[in-house]
Amino acid sequence: MNSLSKPSYRIVAIHGEGIGAEVVEASLKVLQYVAKLEKFNLQVDYGWLGKTALDKFGSYFPKITADLCDGSDGIVFGAVTQGGLLELRKHYDLFCNLRPIRMFDSLLDKSSLRPEKVQNLDILVIRELVSGIYFGPAGRSVDERGAYGYHTMLYYDDEIRRIARQALQKAQKRRGLLTVAHKENALPHLPWTRLVQEEASNFPGVIVEPMLVDNLAMQMVLNPQRFDVILASNLFGDILSDIGGALIGSVGLLGSASLNANGFGLYEAIHGTAPDIAGRGIANPLGTLGACVLMLQQWGEAGAVQRILAAQDRVLAKGYRTADLSPQGSEILVNTEELIDLLLEELSRAQDSEFGVLYESYR
Ligand code: IPM
Ligand code: MG
Repeated sequence: MNSLSKPSYRIVAIHGEGIGAEVVEASLKVLQYVAKLEKFNLQVDYGWLGKTALDKFGSYFPKITADLCDGSDGIVFGAVTQGGLLELRKHYDLFCNLRPIRMFDSLLDKSSLRPEKVQNLDILVIRELVSGIYFGPAGRSVDERGAYGYHTMLYYDDEIRRIARQALQKAQKRRGLLTVAHKENALPHLPWTRLVQEEASNFPGVIVEPMLVDNLAMQMVLNPQRFDVILASNLFGDILSDIGGALIGSVGLLGSASLNANGFGLYEAIHGTAPDIAGRGIANPLGTLGACVLMLQQWGEAGAVQRILAAQDRVLAKGYRTADLSPQGSEILVNTEELIDLLLEELSRAQDSEFGVLYESYR
């Protein structure tokens, strides 16, 4: 691409199951719209993963999906109940999972905490995504005592060091505090504290704060505003990031980016398939849309990022809420499609000059 031509991106959209199709399609509408406004091309191919892939191609992560994803500019993913997702993450070595937890001003009263405890909340959870107990030696067996199962939390030091460098870099660009989740009082052979501290010598200005993960979980609920960047292993990061959903009012609002060393990424909400509401058109698309915002940011499409964030803030400020946010009083209940239409309307209305305010948390 020369500097005069329109940038062109190709993504692979994967619906998965449950509400996956609804939230992916909703987000793609917004993406296509900002592509027009920001004058870039967006090509969307469709891939399969999970149960639908198994039914169609006999495998949870079929080759056809990998072939489509190879050479693309990103994968936008819905949700699956079983199979495929861990393989996909591993296949592309998407070790760096970013899960921003950012409070929306107009949703302060949706938090499970008092508004003053979560105002301006802006935490970045960085979760190691392709190792640890999710991928260590595992199985079921039988010995003289009986049947048993095991999963092993195994980390190579260099796996901890590489995710530590990503977290240190982020912390350096943000407020300079890196809290490291560990459990060294019970699991001393996984020395996250020492390894992160050693890497930190190359990142002046960052304070490394080791914290036992059980205490960390409690502190996230007691005093979440004290946190800046939280670094966690695969399992601990999975658990801690869901606390973020309670803090900001709904797990349906949280998006994530999973990146490899080349910056290639998978973009998905952190919620699951929500079978209880699937197919009803009422799911909150803002988690997946938030993931798409992270993708645009990764591409350097800062204008598109600002446009979506501003439109989202305005729609929420006007009181529109999907069902997961339990609208009260003067708030207006909307379904997925209505919310997207409102977003498109805001996007069409906004003038370029209105994007002076930078969303600081998106760093
Ligand atoms: C997440 C999910 C997944 C995970 C599940 C669906 C395997 O909970 O992305 O947080 O544990 O990584
Ligand atoms: Mg999870």
